[in-house]
Amino acid sequence: MTDKMQVAIDGPASAGKSTIAKIIAKEFGYIYVDTGAMYRTITLAAMRAGLIVPGQETVDEAAVTALLPKTLIGFTPDPAGQRVFLNDEDVSEAIRHSDVNGLVSMISAIPAVRTDLVKRQRDIAASASIVMDGRDIGTTVLPDAQVKIFLVASVEERAARRFKENQEKGIDTNDTLSEIEASIARRDYLDSHREVSPLVQAADAQLVDTTGIDIPTVSANIASIINEKLK
Ligand code: DC
Repeated sequence: MTDKMQVAIDGPASAGKSTIAKIIAKEFGYIYVDTGAMYRTITLAAMRAGLIVPGQETVDEAAVTALLPKTLIGFTPDPAGQRVFLNDEDVSEAIRHSDVNGLVSMISAIPAVRTDLVKRQRDIAASASIVMDGRDIGTTVLPDAQVKIFLVASVEERAARRFKENQEKGIDTNDTLSEIEASIARRDYLDSHREVSPLVQAADAQLVDTTGIDIPTVSANIASIINEKLK
C-alpha cells in the first residue's frame, strides 16, 4: 500500500479513458499518466529503427528489446492535455497515426516491453498521486490502487468518437468510419487475447459503461467514486 492516491482507469481502445482521466487528474490535482502513449512511443521507435512496417504480423522481439534502454519517454504538461516525448522529440501527434494504431498491439504483446514499461509506470506512481489509464493498470501495474475503473462503450460508439476526433485534430482524415471500427475491433481482440497481462476487468474494478452517456456525467460519476474513497 502507498500513501499516494492511485486511480486506475482501464478499458478497450477509444472508450474515453484519456478524456476522463485528464478531467479527473485536473479536478483532484493528480498527475495523469497515459500508458498507451508509452506503448505507442516504443512502437514509433521500432518503426523508425526499421524493425516494423505497416501490415507486418511478426517482429524480431530481441531487436525491439534492445531498443528499450535507448528509448526515453517523457511527458510534459500542456494546456491542451499533455505532450509526449521520444528522447528529445515531441511525438504527441506522430504516435496517434493509424500506422502506429495497427502495430502497437504487436509491440505491446512482447513480454520484455511490458516488463520494462510496467517498471517505468510503477516508478512514476511511487512519486505522486496519479490517475493512470491503460489496459492492465488495475490488474498488474497497480494492483493495490484505491480506485479501479473499467471503462467500456460499444464498438460503434467508440469508432464514431474516434472518427470525430480525427477530423477535429486533422489526423488520418481519410480513414472511413468502417475502417476505424474494424481497426478498433481488431485491437480489442489482440489486446484481450495476448498472453501477458491481457485486457481484462480486475475483480475489484467498477464497470462504467459510457455508451450514450456524456463526458461530464461520466466524470462526475467517477469523481464521486473517488470522493467516497477519500472520506
Ligand atoms: O490506450 P491506447 O489506445 O493509446 O493504447 C495503445 C495500445 O497500447 C493498445 O492497443 C494496447 C497497448 N496498451 C497496453 O497493452 N497496455 C497498457 N497499459 C496501455 C496500452
